[in-house]
Amino acid sequence: MKKKTEKLLEILTAQPVIPVLKIDRLSDAVPLARALAKGGLPAIEITLRTPDAIDAIRLVVDEVPEAIVGAGTILTKKDFTKAEEAGASFIVSPGTTEDLLDAAEDSHVPFLPGAVTPSEIMALREEGYRVLKFFPAEQAGGAAFLKSLASPLADMRFCPTGGISPQNAGDYLSLPNIVCVGGSWIAPDAELKAGNWAAIEELSRQATGLRQA
Ligand code: 3PG
Repeated sequence: MKKKTEKLLEILTAQPVIPVLKIDRLSDAVPLARALAKGGLPAIEITLRTPDAIDAIRLVVDEVPEAIVGAGTILTKKDFTKAEEAGASFIVSPGTTEDLLDAAEDSHVPFLPGAVTPSEIMALREEGYRVLKFFPAEQAGGAAFLKSLASPLADMRFCPTGGISPQNAGDYLSLPNIVCVGGSWIAPDAELKAGNWAAIEELSRQATGLRQA
């Protein structure tokens, strides 16, 4: 577990923002990952919210060596296995289930499970987890909530996602218990639909300028 936590931290602390991606057209996957990496955000989370998500992960893993491809919105053990087989470097879930914890235990791929309440966080801490997703961040209490966890749960660190934007990202990134934030604003639907890779590269570049604790 320690090794997987170290690997996860290595990925998540290398950039202030992890782009959370919903890829509707498989042909967008490679140019999108290239643009994000070129802008300075090689680690990405491709969510399993579209039918082609697993193929998109496989394609980016095969064709964009500079990308570090995570799989997100993993809800079941089956999803976990499929993402792992597609070559995902890390696996993200909005929450936690026993089944997902079992899958993660059997896997060499680091897992970022979701938790919000102190009890959920403590349960994962007992399982050996030290880095968690905090979702939906803004709706669940935002940066103020996370700040209040830093003292009682001092060895737990978080990647908040949900409702984060360039305007509020700094509130999170300035906290000592935040490793990075996640957000979909770096790859807006309109730019994706238009294939405007230069605009996405620029959004990626701007995001790299956000502060990281
Ligand atoms: C996620 O799964 O991490 C979120 O849906 C991303 O939230 P956002 O779209 O509000 O950035």
